Amino acid sequence: SSTRLLKGKTVLITAGPTREKIDPVRFISNHSSGKMGYAIAEEAKRQGAHVVLVSGPVQLASPHGIEVIKVESAEEMYKAVLEHFDHADVVIKTAAVADYRPKTTYAHKVKKQEGDTMLELERTKDILFELGQRKTNQLLIGFAAETNNVADYARKKLEKKNADMIVANNVKTEGAGFGTDTNIVTLYKRDGTVLEWPIMSKSAVAEKIIEEVTSLLKEMGRN
Ligand code: PMT
Repeated sequence: SSTRLLKGKTVLITAGPTREKIDPVRFISNHSSGKMGYAIAEEAKRQGAHVVLVSGPVQLASPHGIEVIKVESAEEMYKAVLEHFDHADVVIKTAAVADYRPKTTYAHKVKKQEGDTMLELERTKDILFELGQRKTNQLLIGFAAETNNVADYARKKLEKKNADMIVANNVKTEGAGFGTDTNIVTLYKRDGTVLEWPIMSKSAVAEKIIEEVTSLLKEMGRN
């Protein structure tokens, strides 16, 4: 349609993986390509929103007309997101943020030694949880990447993180999750509504998520 659903709104989106450094040549990360988050950013832009995209390291080109803030670690992502949170109407957390990082980042390349070794990890900040605590009138959408008990974990995340909606994907299913051009998602809302969608391109999923965001804004009287 020609009506721009998010005109006048600021949408803050996170995408991609984070990298947690071990030493100057090694890091811990995951398989997120950024495709899902970038597709949502493009669609929000298309619907007239001012889009701020906080992106971990990905191979994708920065979308035209979108403010892209590039970060590497979970800590950097946390800072960038918090900086923009107060001005956001909608926050969509598609990024695959590391839950742990090496307790020590070595200044020099760690040399191999005889036998096995151990890597001590510590927790990163849970950005979504923080936002859930701080939110005033932002609409907060989280993602959930699960390999089992998807519905159960998604509902728990909705509660625990004080999110308004969780978009869950079973990342073990063919055509869903990391790296693919398609996704298979189920949406869990606060009022108990569950929307199960078939396999679609990530841009089609993005379009439908933005439609859902618009109707949530409407329900909350914020359109
Ligand atoms: O990038 P693609 O290749 O297109 O793949 C898309 C995707 C699979 C990465 C995406 O669809 C997805 O599922 N993103 C969420 C990945 C994830 O980290 O899920 P989680 O269940 O671990 O985290 C739940 C939520 O908390 C997420 O919104 C996450 O951004 C957030 N989180 C997690 C940890 C942390 N320290 N801070 C967070 O904010």
